[in-house]
Amino acid sequence: MKRLLDVLREDCRLTGTKEGCGEGECGACSVIVDGEVVNSCLIPVCQVEGSSVTTVEGLALNDQLSPLQRAFLEYGAAQCGICTPGMLMSAHALLLRRPHPIRNQILEAIAGNLCRCTGYTKILDAIAAVSSGNINKPDQSE
Ligand code: FES
Ligand code: FES
Repeated sequence: MKRLLDVLREDCRLTGTKEGCGEGECGACSVIVDGEVVNSCLIPVCQVEGSSVTTVEGLALNDQLSPLQRAFLEYGAAQCGICTPGMLMSAHALLLRRPHPIRNQILEAIAGNLCRCTGYTKILDAIAAVSSGNINKPDQSE
């Protein structure tokens, strides 16, 4: 049985979702299934039949980056970029259920997403900027 990650990357050609460890440890493969962040490397694709799956490709709207994506750019929260799609998905899921999280809640939300490059401060700042409205939203709602 194929993993959700393989179906997304190989069959759907949605290569934004990355494979890091392949063992549920790094969060690079994070996607949102029915509102919950999951590691797509651990999910047999049959488990998501009938579910709503959102990948990083689903964040931008009409060629406009989402506020979260723009914040990552503006705050320098992405370096090598391997962790970034998963980080964005965890942050997106957090902001959907809690639009104004405190810093500890942001930390909790991205606890499953490992980054070897940025040291996390810029990532936290980028997510906080969106939640506090310091990144202007584009015309279309996210
Ligand atoms: S690739 Fe899935 S958690 Fe690391
Ligand atoms: S930007 Fe390189 S692992 Fe996070």
